[in-house]
Amino acid sequence: MTIKIAIDGPAGAGKSTVAKKLANLLNFTYIDTGAMYRAITYKVIKEGIDLKEEDKIAEIAKNSSITLEGEKIFLDGKDVSYEIRRPEVSEKVSYVSKIKKVREILVEKQRAIAEGKNVVMDGRDIATVVLPDAQFKFFLTASLAERAKRRYNELKSKNLQIDYLKVLEDIKNRDKMDSQRKESPLKHTDESIVIDTTYLSEQQVLDKLYNIVKEGL
Ligand code: C5P
Repeated sequence: MTIKIAIDGPAGAGKSTVAKKLANLLNFTYIDTGAMYRAITYKVIKEGIDLKEEDKIAEIAKNSSITLEGEKIFLDGKDVSYEIRRPEVSEKVSYVSKIKKVREILVEKQRAIAEGKNVVMDGRDIATVVLPDAQFKFFLTASLAERAKRRYNELKSKNLQIDYLKVLEDIKNRDKMDSQRKESPLKHTDESIVIDTTYLSEQQVLDKLYNIVKEGL
């Protein structure tokens, strides 16, 4: 039997950092599903496709090769790990991720990647849709201001030019779109362990998750 750990939550709640470290500690595969939606969005922008052209966008999702290697993401064989974090991708990704067909295609890819492996997968719909049988379901959240601050610091550390208020606005918009969309909106399940990380350090969150998993294994 393989172990699946689902980590969901809004933008900037610290999911990916903690998910990566947890996967390392447990020697599990880390799967960043947000990076997959970002990669498709990056291609949509690059090819100049209008966000209203949902069928064309779904075609792109269907015909693109997306591979994850540790923290890196490859789109059609090219490393796009840096490009997908750009603000223009963040601004548009929620328009792409609300398209039903795009979600169906990416969910299928995500399940295929997780098949037969022990994984830590992070996203918005992992416990609800992608891996409903996951043995561990976490939902990380934090105040809007704290999440914007974290995302701002993260982008700055990656040398991306960005304004704090713009980050705050982007996170607010994405939260709204991701939570209110018809297809697989961001929410937790009844079994999810909800953790408010506003006043917790990264290490404290990691310890919490690690201890819960270790006890439950
Ligand atoms: O996790 P990250 O902030 O990189 O995700 C980018 C966007 O991808 C989210 O704002 C959301 O619109 C979409 N997403 C999603 N479902 C997932 C993961 C991400 O809709 N499982």
